[in-house]
Parts: sequence; structure tokens; C-alpha cells
Amino acid sequence: MGLIDLPEWQALQNEYEHTKTDHLRDYFAVDSTRAQSFSLSALDIFLDYSKNRITSTGRDLLLELARARGVEQARDAMFAGQKINTTEDRAVLHTALRNQGNQPVLVDGKDVMPEVRQVLAQMADFSQAIRSREWRGFTGKAIKNIVNIGIGGSDLGPVMVSEALKDYSDRNLNLQFISNIDANHFYEVTRELDAAETLFIIASKTFTTDETMTNARTAREWLVSALGNDAAVAKHFVAVSTNAREVTSFGIDTKNMFAFWDWVGGRYSLTSAIGLSIMIAIGPEHFNEMLIGFYQMDQHFKTAPLEQNMPVIMALLGIWYGNFYGAQTEAILPYDQYLSRFAAYFQQGNMESNGKSVTKNGERVNYTTGPVIWGEPGTNGQHAFYQLIHQGTRMIPCDFIGFIQPLHALGTHHDKLVANLFAQTKALAFGKTPEELRVEQVPEALLAHKTFEGNRPTNTLLIAKLTPGTLGQLIALYEHKIFVQGVIWDVNSFDQWGVELGKVLAKDIYQQLASHQNHDQDSSTAQLIDKYYNLQ
Ligand code: F6P
Repeated sequence: MGLIDLPEWQALQNEYEHTKTDHLRDYFAVDSTRAQSFSLSALDIFLDYSKNRITSTGRDLLLELARARGVEQARDAMFAGQKINTTEDRAVLHTALRNQGNQPVLVDGKDVMPEVRQVLAQMADFSQAIRSREWRGFTGKAIKNIVNIGIGGSDLGPVMVSEALKDYSDRNLNLQFISNIDANHFYEVTRELDAAETLFIIASKTFTTDETMTNARTAREWLVSALGNDAAVAKHFVAVSTNAREVTSFGIDTKNMFAFWDWVGGRYSLTSAIGLSIMIAIGPEHFNEMLIGFYQMDQHFKTAPLEQNMPVIMALLGIWYGNFYGAQTEAILPYDQYLSRFAAYFQQGNMESNGKSVTKNGERVNYTTGPVIWGEPGTNGQHAFYQLIHQGTRMIPCDFIGFIQPLHALGTHHDKLVANLFAQTKALAFGKTPEELRVEQVPEALLAHKTFEGNRPTNTLLIAKLTPGTLGQLIALYEHKIFVQGVIWDVNSFDQWGVELGKVLAKDIYQQLASHQNHDQDSSTAQLIDKYYNLQ
């Protein structure tokens, strides 16, 4: 039966009709234990979801929907290595990358764990060689600059985590990322680097992505021209890929290649060899602590009953707002500068996974799927886009993420930071009424402008401290949230056909640009091509 025809869905629709005008102010006024009843802990993460427009009946109905859609069975199928990525006929086993258990994890009858551990050990050896300055470049100088060349899932995870865990990194190493095919990116990153001290990590699952391969070739030319010898490549280039053939044909020896497997999706790959740049920066021990954090959240997701299951609860709240209230976006707002790329990371994680409009069987959906994800760290966002969240016409469910202990305690900074986080969720939930404003003698003409409706939903995630382990827990939490939503919407969260057409057309147009032609183009594209080469 289609999703919206399910009795569980109909019951939720009913609940929505009955509660859509309720106000959080009233929920809190009538129930002094609401905060406790709508909170839960998983490992080091505390989630207060009481400031959501949900009753306990609504929550029960959402949980029934999850059961009706087979969330538990789908989860077990993923962990068991079944080929749930049906359009690519692949297993989805990023959980094997951080598995700390002793049980085999089988793909096509073969235990993948020995290879996973072997690559982790290879990464650790290489990271140590760079960190100890034992690995020398072609001229004998130690490596100081590490440049990861990759894009999408081969870039965003390492960028996000290396920023998040900067405080745990070797500050004498200079970690840089080049992703964009725009030469400005390559130019800016490399302009002050000494090639003799620079290592390039070419990170690409397929090793065919045009942006990455173009940047990789430019990097090789840059290095060879600076060091004057082709043989320098062996000491300054390593590859992370599933495609040994392409790595070899690029000229990187496979002994300098770190493998991963087709059952690791690009946007779920940061705990694979794609995380090599992270491991070099923070060291194998911290990397391992991060893997343990991921694993702990995997276990929580796998074993906690649905009502206590944090990814499930967060996923269901997202469904509630997206499918019943019509919310189109979700904001992720970490109150920690080190998490400045967290929302950008989950933009790909979420939007490439669930930005689909057909079911696994290829039928057009008649309901909304993945939301637009965005966000910036607090408190910066408060002075930029929060106006719209507080008083705009759209509902924007927000996740506020805060840490109890600061990594750098400077005077009053941390208390002020956290006070702002708590204040925002309070303002969004309870708002400010015209009556309250009148008591403050606000002029009548300004009442409408200064009124805050409130009733704007938020989750608050509190974590003791930002560590490799808690970061791992947090990332896995969001990964599994996305998974649960994909199951409920019956979309394949692990393919990404929607990125293909643009790539193919870009190849075609590139050929025409290079040869000054514009045949077989629509009039708009033809005009743009003409403008481009006429004004060059
Ligand atoms: O643009 C889509 C995509 O395929 C992403 O899914 C992926 O993370 C990225 O490109 C990079 O791919 P690769 O690692 O194969 O270079």
C-alpha cells in the first residue's frame, strides 16, 4: 500500500488536523513534566525535543508509522549487508567501516572485515610516517602540507571533520582541500606552498570525476615543474579509491593507494580511506576514537527500542513537519565554531540521499521527500538569518547543537554562547504576545512588528564535550536519521542519478566551447556559448 494510503498515515493526518493550531505555550502550561517526557539520551548525546509541536499521541502514531514501514527490518537488512541500494545492486555497509565487533560482516558471502582492518592499518602506518616526518619528499624534505583533492563525498567529510577536530590535530601540518574545478581554488591553495614539502591525496571513489582528475593532473604538472623530475610523483602523490586500474593509469603506484569498496557510498565514506587526510591531521588514535563513537551510535540505532531510538525520533519529527506541516527546509545550527562545516556536510548527506521523487520501484511519489538542509554556527546566524526563522512566514524546524564543556575556556565566552542557544529555542517556542508587549508599554503601532508568534519547533542536542568520539556519535546520528526517513518515503537513499545529466551535458558543452561551436543546442544555451567565446 502506498504511504499516504496507510491507516497509520491517515491517523497522523487526523492528529495533524486536531493539533495544528495548538501552541507550545499551552503544551508546557498543562504538563509540567513535558521536558522530561520528550527528552532522551543516547550515549553522550542528550536530546530535548519537547519544544516540538507534537503530543504524546502524535509521537505514538509516528512510531506506528515507522513500524508499518518496516524501519526495523530495513535497518537490519542494511547492517546485514543486503543489497539495499537496488538501482546500483550494492550493499550499503558504511557501518562495517567502524565496526568494533568480532562478528563477520558478509557481502556476497565474503567477510569484509579483514580488508577493512587491513586498510585502516595501512592508513595508520602512512599517517604515522607523515606525522613523525619519517616520510620524505623527493628532495629529502619532510612533508608539511597535505592537500586533499576530491569533491562531494571525497571532500566534504574530511573538510568538516578536520575543522571540527582541529584542536586534536598536529598544528605543524598544514591541511588543505582543493575541490572546485575553478582554477581559483587550485591557485589559492597552492600559491604559497613549497612543492618539496607537499603531499597530494587524490581522493575519488571512481577516480573518474572530472573536477578531481582535472585538479589532480594540474597538481602533477605543478609538482613536476617545481621539482623538475617525473620521479617526484611517487613521493608526493597517494590515491584513495575503489578503482585501482584508473589509479595506476594516472601514474600512482598501487602501493601508495588506499582502497575502499563499492558498498561505501561517497557521502557515507569519511570513515573509509577517504578519511586519510583526517587521520594524518589528528593521528590514528583520535581517528580510532572517532570510529568508536560512530560504532556506538550504530549500536544504539541497531538495538534501542524505537521510542528510545534517537535517530528514529529525529527522523519522525522531520517527517511530521515536512509531510504534514509542509515545512520545506531544516536548519542545523551548531553552537560551536569548530562545527562550521557540519550543516554543509549534511547538505550532501541528506539532499543527495533523499532528494528523490520516485519510490524504489520507480513509481512517482505523491508526498514530499527530502528537505532542503542548511545552517551556520551560532551565534553568527543569529545576526544574519534568524529574523526569518522567528518572524517569517515559513516554518523552519531547527536543530540546535551545543557542548557543555568548552574546548577553550576564555572568560565568559562559553556561558554566553550557551545562554544564546537556550534563549533562541525559548524565544522560538514561546514567542512574545501583544499582551506582554503592552505591559512593557510598547507603542500600539509597533505591536505587530514586535510580536513573536512562537510555536516554532526546535530540537536541542547537548553533548558534554566536542571530542573525536562524540563527533562520531553525532555524525552517525544524522546518517541514521536520513536512513529512517528514506525507508519511510520508500526512496533509495544510496544512489544519486540526479547528478548525472549535468555531468554529461557539461562534457558535451565543453567540447563545443573548445571548438567554438554551438550546434544542437537550445537557443538559450547557444546564446550563452556565443557570448562566452565572443567576449573572451
Ligand atoms: O556528484 C556526485 C558524486 O558522485 C557524489 O556522490 C560523490 O561524493 C562525488 O560525486 C565524488 O565522487 P568520486 O569520489 O567518485 O570522485
